[in-house]
Amino acid sequence: MKAIIFFIVISSVFTNWGQQVCPVIPTPQVYKVIDGELFVAEGISIDRSTLPDASFDFLKMELVNLFSINLDTNENYPKIIFNELRNVPTDYYSINVNKNIRIGYSSQASQFYAINSLLQLVQGGEDNWYIKRLSISDSPKFQWRGLHLDVSRHFFSVDEIKKFIDDMALYKFNTFHWHLTDDQGWRIEIKKYPKLTEIGAYRDSTIIGHYSRSPREYKVEKYGGFYSQEEVKEIVAYAKSKYIKVVPEIEMPGHSRAALSAYPELSCNGLQQEVPGVWGIFDDIYCSKDETIQFMKDVLDEVLELFPSDYIHIGGDEAPKIRWKSCSDCQNLIKQKGLKDEHELQSYFIRRMDEYLSQKGRKLIGWDEILEGGLSPNATVMSWRGDKGGKEAASQGHYVVMSPNTHCYFDYYQSSHSDEPLAIGGFLPLEKVYEFSPIPEGMNDDDANYILGGQANIWTEYMESMDHVEYMIYPRALALIQSLWCFEKPSYEVFLEVYLSKHQDYLKKHNVKFANSIHFPHLKIERTKDGLNISFHGAYDNSKFQISQSNSNEKFVFEKQVVGSGDLIFLARGGFEERKVLNLRVKSLESGVEVNYTFLLSNLLGLNIDLVTPPHVKYNNNGSLNLVDGILGSKPWKGSDWLGFNVPNIEFVIDLEKKRKINGLRLGYLEDNGSWIYLPENVQVEKSKDGIKWKKASVYKIEELNSEFDLRRVPYKTRSRFIRVTTISMDIIPEGLDGGGHIPWTFINEVELY
Ligand code: ACM
Ligand code: ZN
Repeated sequence: MKAIIFFIVISSVFTNWGQQVCPVIPTPQVYKVIDGELFVAEGISIDRSTLPDASFDFLKMELVNLFSINLDTNENYPKIIFNELRNVPTDYYSINVNKNIRIGYSSQASQFYAINSLLQLVQGGEDNWYIKRLSISDSPKFQWRGLHLDVSRHFFSVDEIKKFIDDMALYKFNTFHWHLTDDQGWRIEIKKYPKLTEIGAYRDSTIIGHYSRSPREYKVEKYGGFYSQEEVKEIVAYAKSKYIKVVPEIEMPGHSRAALSAYPELSCNGLQQEVPGVWGIFDDIYCSKDETIQFMKDVLDEVLELFPSDYIHIGGDEAPKIRWKSCSDCQNLIKQKGLKDEHELQSYFIRRMDEYLSQKGRKLIGWDEILEGGLSPNATVMSWRGDKGGKEAASQGHYVVMSPNTHCYFDYYQSSHSDEPLAIGGFLPLEKVYEFSPIPEGMNDDDANYILGGQANIWTEYMESMDHVEYMIYPRALALIQSLWCFEKPSYEVFLEVYLSKHQDYLKKHNVKFANSIHFPHLKIERTKDGLNISFHGAYDNSKFQISQSNSNEKFVFEKQVVGSGDLIFLARGGFEERKVLNLRVKSLESGVEVNYTFLLSNLLGLNIDLVTPPHVKYNNNGSLNLVDGILGSKPWKGSDWLGFNVPNIEFVIDLEKKRKINGLRLGYLEDNGSWIYLPENVQVEKSKDGIKWKKASVYKIEELNSEFDLRRVPYKTRSRFIRVTTISMDIIPEGLDGGGHIPWTFINEVELY
């Protein structure tokens, strides 16, 4: 009874992290500081029997490792007193720090959450550790707070997976989506089908660099591994001790090349193929025939024995239907079952799995492609291609986990800086993750009830080590958990302050190799009357940078053309007959992170360019100034920097301000065919005295790269004031190439005259 009253009182206190910044991530619902501190440096006492063993061991280890604080039964120390509560929200906990530490909890999970919050509340330093006197009242908004990990593209050891789970638990994630099978490796022992791991767990080679690079190069070396059933059990039990459920994913019918290399008879054409060492989407998928269905059921039988999770993920994404179209088994099935097409055949396949899992008391979840051809009655949808699939599923009364690539793909770049390690592409900075809401804007309450929560996906094509995985996950996972846990999260600025002041250190102490990308300066470039103002901005409003010129042998450039120091430099416009190169080294004074910038100081620098064709809204990075700001876009593409267009012709006009003699232009283009970004075919150049009447159109083929800065030369020799440039791309990408049948993207960056 006492406990119930307590909850009501606390919950009526309005969330007040506005005045007192709460150091806990995810931010508790209610956090209220009372005057004074409770000193805990000597030790904390506890009745061991009030906690499950694993939680006790965790708390003890953490207190010792982080703060050298003892946890024992010494009555002289402040005590942790637990109190089980009833009639409170799911996974509710409360903390009251006064003369002792009183923790209320509604489940063993929330008792563990309370411990984690408590650990984040310890402040001070050597021999002076204390916790502010306060009260916290907290419970999660969403029940699915997940991180996914792809162990097929790269394999991680049992210990590494345990560390991954440890780090999740620190921040109250509760669902580990374990992506165990894919084209490049089958990673779970299935006793009935030993070849899955004997053959399917190993590939002979692995592509080097980005898969869109041409020609492709491979590291020819056997790569792979798998988890034995004993190891799986060990991991599942370990996760359970940290209140994390493990949802296994067994991909079907696509992303199945590793399984088909072991059992080619499960494909449509029966061809023996190897486990691929390259990333992508493969045409060869499981055949929909009964034999495959039986195989999948057999596999699931063993999977269900190992994973107590109510949800079982069956993949369902990116399954090309080309083999099914020419397969007599698949076509017969379509006729026999009266299906409309191959999409309905996929639905039929998934429905059989759904029936099987339902019969076993489990629930099927799959990627949003399982909507195509009709959603199976009990299926839950994981929405990854934006939130569209999730919205549709919820409106049909199906449960949804939101994992949109717009906000939750942690394999995307987190900054556009050239120091970022190679990634698949995309652009997902910390701030964008923070904007994520599992409930899409405008969704009605009925549909919103079907949103279970969200998760980030970590596809590991470009992550060979767990250090790299951690770099991609942290700190973005901290932004994500705010969206999954908090009913009302504080502003990004408050989050950032808490993160910067507390959690970088907390992550370091837990040996998490987080990214420092928020400390990479981002440049703001503005036109002034005489040139460009370039300012450097960091994580803080008043971030400071030290700027020095690193190509000192060209110091004259700096002295003559750059004035100012500190966070702002000024580059005078135009006027360079010969391009100069300015290399700057910029050091973040808060974080010590140092980065290099190369500016090309050309005769177009800062001049006016009329961008007649507007860039695509998604890729309009600073408009026309982007073309003459002296900075080259990063390669490989990091999802920003460049101006991107999705129309065949792009036109812009350069105003040289007076008649000038030129020998030609240099233009920077991006080529990243895997992202459907193609080089244009031709460039047309015209000149004009007045910018109205144009003459002498000359057309040039885009030439091979021949300059040190990846610019392409257009030898248009003339004397003129206005120059009109039209970049001409192919209308449609030919079939057979990446993005075949679509309009190609064209990405432009710098323009110079020479
Ligand atoms: C996915 O990213 N193919 C689910
Ligand atoms: Zn078939």
